[in-house]
Amino acid sequence: MKIAVFPGSFDPITNGHLDVLTRVAPIFDAVVVAVLQNVNKRPLFTLEERLAMIRAAVQGLPTVRVDSFAGLLVDFARDVGAVAVIRGIRSAGDCTMEVQMANMNRRLQPQLTTLLVPAAAEYAFVSSSLVKEVAGHGSDVTGLVPSSVGLALSAKFGPA
Ligand code: PNS
Repeated sequence: MKIAVFPGSFDPITNGHLDVLTRVAPIFDAVVVAVLQNVNKRPLFTLEERLAMIRAAVQGLPTVRVDSFAGLLVDFARDVGAVAVIRGIRSAGDCTMEVQMANMNRRLQPQLTTLLVPAAAEYAFVSSSLVKEVAGHGSDVTGLVPSSVGLALSAKFGPA
């Protein structure tokens, strides 16, 4: 079994994340979306809310499962038997940070390989933070997030 982990805060998951997930899912036997439990900044959504939104969004991807983790990503990856870590990149800025993380993870667990997947051009400007900011000011984020997230944002902030 070739297993990959797709880690993140997912506060909330966006269509950019989903695009990356959809592209990599056929390459592996299974992909585990790994949701970081204790996000540094106070998350808008609880862990349970983030997991539920992702589970709803990946219903059409039978080889994708959703789990959460605390502590080091490399330990979670080892526990699920993953050979690869998947991260999406939108910009040169992302790339710099992701290569730094990839090399630290490689030092911690040399067998685990990080694969960086470019975000689709139409989602290159989409981030969880911007989605929350825009939705928080009452503007529409339809098309940028899955419907499960759109509903959850409306529940938090009111409909756009
Ligand atoms: O969606 P994010 O916030 O960009 O995801 C960052 C994440 C969760 C991938 C990263 O912070 C992480 O792996 N955290 C777990 C702790 C860890 O392993 N730190 C060392 C990484 S080099």
